[in-house]
Amino acid sequence: MISNRKIEHVEICLYEGVEGFTSTLLDNVVLVHKAMPEISFNDIITKTKFFNKDISAPLMVTGMTGGTADLGKINETIASVVEELGLAMGVGSQRIAIENSSAEESFKIVRKVAPSSPIIANIGAPQLTKGYGVKELEKAVSMIEADAIAIHLNPAQEIFQPEGEPDYSKEILEKLKDISKSLKVPIIIKETGTGISMETAILFSKYGFKNFDVSGQGGTSWIAVEMIRDKRKGNWKEQSASLFADWGIPTAASIVETRYSVPDSFIIGSGGIRNGLDVARAIALGSDIGGMASPVLKRAVEGKDSLKSFFNKTIFELKAAMMLTGSKDIEELKKTNIVIWKDLKDWMGSRGISLSIYDKLRKRE
Ligand SMILES: Cc1cc2nc3c(=O)[nH]c(=O)nc-3n(C[C@H](O)[C@H](O)[C@H](O)COP(=O)(O)O)c2cc1C
Repeated sequence: MISNRKIEHVEICLYEGVEGFTSTLLDNVVLVHKAMPEISFNDIITKTKFFNKDISAPLMVTGMTGGTADLGKINETIASVVEELGLAMGVGSQRIAIENSSAEESFKIVRKVAPSSPIIANIGAPQLTKGYGVKELEKAVSMIEADAIAIHLNPAQEIFQPEGEPDYSKEILEKLKDISKSLKVPIIIKETGTGISMETAILFSKYGFKNFDVSGQGGTSWIAVEMIRDKRKGNWKEQSASLFADWGIPTAASIVETRYSVPDSFIIGSGGIRNGLDVARAIALGSDIGGMASPVLKRAVEGKDSLKSFFNKTIFELKAAMMLTGSKDIEELKKTNIVIWKDLKDWMGSRGISLSIYDKLRKRE
């Protein structure tokens, strides 16, 4: 059952140590320090736009859960804190609620407790090869009065999942393009921890899609999650999953590849974002906002106060980085000077991305 699988995913992410096998490479992005920032900490503005709404800081919770009463409680906790602090939130895959209406409430609660926040619906791309069309996507959107819908790409997870269905046929692209013509909200192309490359970003942009949640490597590894499930089930795929545990594009490299190849895209920098400095680095490198999943889940199960303190600390750290780069708002942070070195510089060189051309693109000049 899908709901049992989701419960097991949440349990593994909470207790089995499935993140940080590799680096996001965000520590290869140095924000250049300004000893005379020419601003006062209290004047820093973190507000930004997320689709048609304002958010108080460039931060969203990327899609995770929903489906049962307990998972609905986690959604409720996250949604109420997101609403209070003025942030944005995605829900987990809504397939379960599309196929079984008794699961709807665990998603609907999000809009109930977060009436004004940007809320993002979620469906997996493989569902499109199995008959999902406009009707199902509209249902996912209307269930939570979503501001946008994320279509998640998880080929690596599907391959190593014991009951995975790794069907990523070309028809998904055509179908998505058709659906987008009648869907009333924007579509976000979202990875799930293995990152979006230049080639993938260009492919989707040719079909008209320019909103990306890169979800790169360096945070939660879904191959590792499925490796643990394979092991528990005595499934032969365990060793193969272990071989691929560090597969993917590091988050920093994925942000660069996406901004470079589709310069006018909207980018959610995510995958291994763990604090406010990560958010600042992701934005200075070329993202529009940052996104986090696992760290939010861990605080949400502790309760609202824990999650609220975590977000406030994250926003304080973001503001500290803004102050120390003399960035009074997010637009200035996007243009702040950075040094790209070590592995990220090598990555860019190997992919033919010139540092000086990229510097203009990430500053949107
Ligand atoms: C418990 C859990 C469940 C998730 N379920 C979904 C999902 O249903 N749909 C989706 O698009 N991503 C899902 N994700 C992936 C996250 O949105 C994110 O892309 C990934 O975990 C990397 O971010 P992180 O390193 O901050 O965790 C899930 C993540 C977690 C931790």
